Amino acid sequence: MVDPRAHGRVLREVVFDERAIEARVAELGREVTAAYPDGDLLVIGALKGSFIFLADLVRRIERPLQVDFLVASSYGRGTVSSGEVRLLYEPGTPLADRHILLVEDIIDSGRTLASLVDRLRSRGPRSLAICALLDKRIAPPLPEIRFVGFAAPTRFLVGYGLDHAEDFRHLPYIAELA
Ligand code: IMP
Ligand code: MG
Repeated sequence: MVDPRAHGRVLREVVFDERAIEARVAELGREVTAAYPDGDLLVIGALKGSFIFLADLVRRIERPLQVDFLVASSYGRGTVSSGEVRLLYEPGTPLADRHILLVEDIIDSGRTLASLVDRLRSRGPRSLAICALLDKRIAPPLPEIRFVGFAAPTRFLVGYGLDHAEDFRHLPYIAELA
């Protein structure tokens, strides 16, 4: 199919359409709501990939919460990944003794997440859980991965926040790049 929003590039196939995403995000919102019965909750979106998912998810969580973001940049991406992540921005508010829900777009090798978990843990949160929209299920499982939207095929996906060289983030569905 060719979508005019996709810069005229051919997408091989839509893997998760708008309706499937909307339904699953609503379920995730209910799961998160049920998992945190009281106290405050800080939802941290990992930019840029999580921006659309986070915006939809928090509107489906029916409890008090605050939102912040972090911006991570991997060293040596595209060559040899050291697995080390540099934080270009991290929440300025204290994380100590707070329930933290880190929202990620997709888990591939899991290196980004493993590094982020170490960094956030060092700030002494009361709890730390991860909500990822997609998981390719090739990463070593982390106990913090508590909410997952979909098991993803091990292919390169774009849309709904996910990019290829910064393109395609605005597509309302998730597709495989041809
Ligand atoms: P990991 O450290 O290998 O798990 O990589 C995670 C990050 O790589 C994600 O947050 C995305 O930014 C990016 N990424 C991994 N797989 C894909 C994909 O299929 N499409 C777009 N970005 C991806
Ligand atoms: Mg990316």
